[in-house]
Amino acid sequence: MRVGIGSDHAGFDLKVFLAAALKKEGYEVVDYGINIKKSVDYPDFAVKLTAGIQAKEIGKGILICGTGIGMSIAANKFKGIRAARCCCIQDACLARQHNDANVITLGGRLLGNDLAFEMVNVFLDTPFLKGRHLKRVNKIKSIDK
Ligand code: RB5
Repeated sequence: MRVGIGSDHAGFDLKVFLAAALKKEGYEVVDYGINIKKSVDYPDFAVKLTAGIQAKEIGKGILICGTGIGMSIAANKFKGIRAARCCCIQDACLARQHNDANVITLGGRLLGNDLAFEMVNVFLDTPFLKGRHLKRVNKIKSIDK
């Protein structure tokens, strides 16, 4: 699966770490920036990565800002995007199992590299459970229309 990653300045260091770690694991990683650590506005990178999902360039995405909050608010403005701000492994698991989230948002100022990598792996490996959750996700999709 092709995975997208993007961040602002506050998520830059974690983005660099995660992109390298995911590549080492065999993922094809599409980097939507930023590419140097300078102060930028996080919505600009949510726009770029979510466009990549809408265009089917990538299947899932990782967005990182200081807290993960701004990126989740921005990403969820776009049709077809279900972005989940995750703070622990259980969040990452349930965001996939129950919500079929296609973007994980992380706090670069809150999470250590190893925990973030574990969370991303869980997010990428965990399938949507469908069943009773499908009807609920379909209701979200109908709001999108
Ligand atoms: C940038 O200082 C910070 O506000 C941003 O990275 C993010 O945490 C916003 O939600």
